[in-house]
Amino acid sequence: MSDENKSKKPLRSQEWYGKLDKDGFIHRSWMKNQGLPDHSFDGRPIIGICNSWSELTPCNAHLRELAEYVKRGVWEAGGVPLEFPVMSLGETQMKPTAMLFRNLMSMDVEESIRAYGMDGVVLLGGCDKTTPAQLMGACSVDLPAIVVSSGPMLNGKYRGKDIGSGTDVWKFSEAVRGGKMSLDEFMRAESGMSRSRGTCMTMGTASTMSCLTEALGMSLPENGTLPAVDARRQALAHLTGMRIVEMVKEDLKPSDILTKSAFENAIRANAAIGGSTNAVVHLLAIAGRVGVELTLDDWDRIGAEIPCLVDLMPSGRFLMEDFHYAGGFPALIQRLQDEFDMQAMTVSGSSLADSTKEAECFNDEVIRPLDKPLRKKAGIAVLKGNLCPQGAIIKPSAATPALLQHTGKAVVFENIEDYKARIDSPELEVGKDSILVLKGCGPKGYPGMPEVGNMALPSKLLEQGITDMVRISDARMSGTAFGTVVLHVAPEATMGGPLALVKNGDEITLDVAGRGLHLHISDEEMAERQANWQAQESEYHRGYAKLYIDHVMQADRGADLDFLVGKSGSKVSRESH
Ligand code: FES
Repeated sequence: MSDENKSKKPLRSQEWYGKLDKDGFIHRSWMKNQGLPDHSFDGRPIIGICNSWSELTPCNAHLRELAEYVKRGVWEAGGVPLEFPVMSLGETQMKPTAMLFRNLMSMDVEESIRAYGMDGVVLLGGCDKTTPAQLMGACSVDLPAIVVSSGPMLNGKYRGKDIGSGTDVWKFSEAVRGGKMSLDEFMRAESGMSRSRGTCMTMGTASTMSCLTEALGMSLPENGTLPAVDARRQALAHLTGMRIVEMVKEDLKPSDILTKSAFENAIRANAAIGGSTNAVVHLLAIAGRVGVELTLDDWDRIGAEIPCLVDLMPSGRFLMEDFHYAGGFPALIQRLQDEFDMQAMTVSGSSLADSTKEAECFNDEVIRPLDKPLRKKAGIAVLKGNLCPQGAIIKPSAATPALLQHTGKAVVFENIEDYKARIDSPELEVGKDSILVLKGCGPKGYPGMPEVGNMALPSKLLEQGITDMVRISDARMSGTAFGTVVLHVAPEATMGGPLALVKNGDEITLDVAGRGLHLHISDEEMAERQANWQAQESEYHRGYAKLYIDHVMQADRGADLDFLVGKSGSKVSRESH
């Protein structure tokens, strides 16, 4: 190959394919059974395409096709693309919750990248947990890496109106329970909601994570918003394939891009897009892998004052297609450039300022101007108090303003089964001012910290026209959900955190302005309840679930496994033969 195509640093892949001995023979010979000619191994960058394609992850089901466009770009730039599968996490399909397996997938990603002879990697993901899992794994190896996301589905359609993934499921479901929608209508909405390839097209967790990946600088511009079916996404995949070859030559790694400043930009971006509460645990976990000190308090400190400009469901009206046609994420960054660190480095090899300088906004209804925000102060609020000594979070932009300051009596559910058994009971003693408390749904408790924190309201209140109540749990909630919902209470109830000690009728105060969450019992009463509290024996005695329960950290640490924090690099010191 010509000199100008050579990398400045010796290529890692040459430790596999450059050796003129028995080991080199073995590594090359078996690869040649795929029709790769000799010159594939002459010192060109080998690019892994880490693909979370799966028919069981419908949001990622088209990623094998998208990988072909990445390959075109890699070939064009003088590299050799090699696609490999990793575990995939279908958010709507996995039980008990896809989040249980995020860390497992990250281990698969990390070990696959390290064990094989690649110089850089393109991460193909999209459905909620697949993006953070791939970033976490890639950060722990720290080879040049870049993301191409699935892209959002086209807007959902039902009876001539746009409907949003998830968000309208919750609304329709409550309408059925409240007697305002027939079951037949409900079933007919199903086909109109998910009518194209791609991820949820609301600002749920998948859209949030793809936009935050752009904010972090880990993808090319527009990756966050381009619809999955838009031919420009295929072109973006092609350009990404070209770019990763250059990144290998430049030795531009995640640790060069994912600085504290990049995470701060992502926290600001999450507020500006009205992003998912799930971003909190994911960014904390990614930061932990790359060695950046990011805390739960940073979310409030950095994001709280940022306005939400993007008018998308679940906080607002529109959907991802509209966001992209309005200018997409780069146009939003342009609008908020005084708030962001525009000098932050991106995978493009230039700053955020450079990579977004040509962006324009084409629709002020969707990407609001600074003087007409959807919400003025839209960041995640971090709560502290005797009910959550390690913290809890709430998304004020998706809550009912009148409930952000509220005192009420607790209606307690000991676990999800208890909740499901009693929530619609006519006997349930509950009123509109009650506070629903759900225990046992944290990282260790469910296990996997499921998205059940936005528990549906009792049908007898729905029938009275009540649409929101304060709800508190150690669970997460879907990024497509809404309501006055306090989440991620730490320590969780299963570990004997104060949430475990709440009893029916206890008074609780939620004070979002003062960032407080308080259980009105005396310290003595709390101590006595704590002394009488007994842990329940886990049902999980083997396999990954046991490993997870034994090692998962609390939500304020990103719910990563304790032994996965940090990185091991890309070096493998021993040969395989
Ligand atoms: Fe896959 Fe929403 S379920 S992105």
